[in-house]
Amino acid sequence: MTDWVNQVFCEDALEGIARIPDASIDLILTDPPYNLGKDYGNASDQQSVEAYLAWTEQWIAAVLPKLKANGSLYIFLTWRFAPEIFVMLKKRMTMMNEIIWDRRVPSMGGSVRSFSSVHDTIGFFVNRKDYYFDLDAVRIPYDAETKKARSRSIFVGAKWLEVGYNPKDVWSVSRLHREHPERADHPTQKPLEIIERMVKASCPPGGVVLDPFMGSGTTAIAAKRLGRQFTGFELNPAYCEIIQARLAAPEVPLAAKKRKAAAKGAIAITSEGNP
Ligand SMILES: C[S@@+](CC[C@H](N)C(=O)[O-])C[C@H]1O[C@@H](n2cnc3c(N)ncnc32)[C@H](O)[C@@H]1O
Repeated sequence: MTDWVNQVFCEDALEGIARIPDASIDLILTDPPYNLGKDYGNASDQQSVEAYLAWTEQWIAAVLPKLKANGSLYIFLTWRFAPEIFVMLKKRMTMMNEIIWDRRVPSMGGSVRSFSSVHDTIGFFVNRKDYYFDLDAVRIPYDAETKKARSRSIFVGAKWLEVGYNPKDVWSVSRLHREHPERADHPTQKPLEIIERMVKASCPPGGVVLDPFMGSGTTAIAAKRLGRQFTGFELNPAYCEIIQARLAAPEVPLAAKKRKAAAKGAIAITSEGNP
């Protein structure tokens, strides 16, 4: 065990990253400020375009040497700066997917001079061809009805019908609104369902996940729940306290929490439908 593993440091990622040894990380999973003007208690989301892109180049250059040769990176972005940042990453890595996270935002009017934006854009990048990827860990089971509909002899005994299908690149998962049982006091907290899928697919059990911008600590919680290790940084001391509290809380299975909230009428339980 090393002194940087299973810890979230309350400091600037650009300062702390030097303590992480090169080629020690299995997965970089990060959700940096999108530069949309949000208030994280610091100016990280309120920079000029030039300063934001220069800072992004800087942290990318600092974190990529920490990744193992067979490691992967996921980065949450929006359409505003995804094109520029994907180009930065494509100069150094191979892009495997652009994943669209449909946040299931309800229709409530919205923009009048453009279409309402209801998705985040996630880039999935790898270092080289033999990158770690455990598809079986993230397959989505077919429901009984679909299985029955595929009962023709050519499908009998088909492994994919039994083990489920490969998630597509559009992920439809509700954002965490205020009443959601997972919700902490952070404006852009991501759902565990999404982060856990990335960790299961792209970090081997016992491996290490790095998130330079932890926010409420969702990456750390997901890693802990799934038997992986974690490390990372967060600038805002109030968010660091939330991370510590979430890490210290007794683990309640997510499904049970969601059932309880659904019974109270706080959320609807949904899952990605069959193809
Ligand atoms: C989009 S949020 C991350 C949300 C997180 N994925 C979650 O589920 O809660 C980005 C976070 O990066 C933090 N941040 C911004 N600049 C930073 C820096 N230089 N070092 C460390 N953290 C930083 C912000 O305070 C903010 O909490």
